[in-house]
Amino acid sequence: MTQPAAPQNFIWVPGAEPIAREAGALLRDFLARGVETEYKGDVDLVTAADRASEKLIRARLRETFPEHGVFGEEGTRDRMEGEYRWYVDPLDGTTNFAHGFPQFCVSLGLEHRPDGLAAQDDGTLVAAIVYDPTREEFFAAERGRSAWLNGRRLHVSRIPELAESLVATGFPSRKRHSSPNIHFYQEFTLRSHGVRRAGSAALDLAWTACGRLEAFWEFNLNPWDTAAGILLVEEAGGRVSDFAGRPWRLESSEILASNGLVHDEMTALFENMFAGRELAPIPTPQEFMARRAARDVSI
Ligand code: IPD
Ligand code: CA
Ligand code: CA
Repeated sequence: MTQPAAPQNFIWVPGAEPIAREAGALLRDFLARGVETEYKGDVDLVTAADRASEKLIRARLRETFPEHGVFGEEGTRDRMEGEYRWYVDPLDGTTNFAHGFPQFCVSLGLEHRPDGLAAQDDGTLVAAIVYDPTREEFFAAERGRSAWLNGRRLHVSRIPELAESLVATGFPSRKRHSSPNIHFYQEFTLRSHGVRRAGSAALDLAWTACGRLEAFWEFNLNPWDTAAGILLVEEAGGRVSDFAGRPWRLESSEILASNGLVHDEMTALFENMFAGRELAPIPTPQEFMARRAARDVSI
């Protein structure tokens, strides 16, 4: 029998849980059968599984929450004037999925948009589900009702310093040439236990919420990647902001999520790096080979 995923007093998660589990099962079936990949951009992949999962989630959300809006990565824009809006990533980690690399999930985040809220203003994230069908891990949160993993309450890690942290990031599949993130990857690698780049932003956030990671940052994400994971981190006692430490907004493309304890250290490093300070030089391959040829013992 499936373990209860969330406490009794959840309002929206119980209706959405079977939807996320069905979508996850559909992804598992596609993976077992093999799936053809198409290109949205130069390396931006999409598969029939992304589309089938969004179709299923869209139809099932409509049955379960007929008044709610749905904003999906694969193009769904239903009832956008609704008081509630689901941000849907039907398959977060498509590149992994297409290669059979088992790090992907379904992400559903619910925003409350009270009457009179201007279209460009953020409502409040009120419910979150991130479902990893490979490990059968069901992460869920509702605002004010904590974050849970397979029925167990979550808390972010208590590690106080970046130097003792394991952190994560991701790299965009669109406009890759304009991303400066490799510099941040290098600096955070030198200043922490290491940086993981596992290819699913929603799972990176869920794993920050459950203490497997101390922090996660990324450039150029979209609300369907982050809406659910942000609430998980906040309800697990962590902090989410932009790179300057300002409150995160749905339209902020840059996100920093952490256990809260290492947050200020990370925003200070972002500030310094954006100002051109504190960049450790990276030896070029040519410099490295020259030193190797000279039998330089420092490498
Ligand atoms: C991607 C993943 C990846 C992140 C990319 C996202 P997708 O989402 O979350 O980890 O680095 O920026 O676009 O395309 O697999 O849904
Ligand atoms: Ca995504
Ligand atoms: Ca996706």
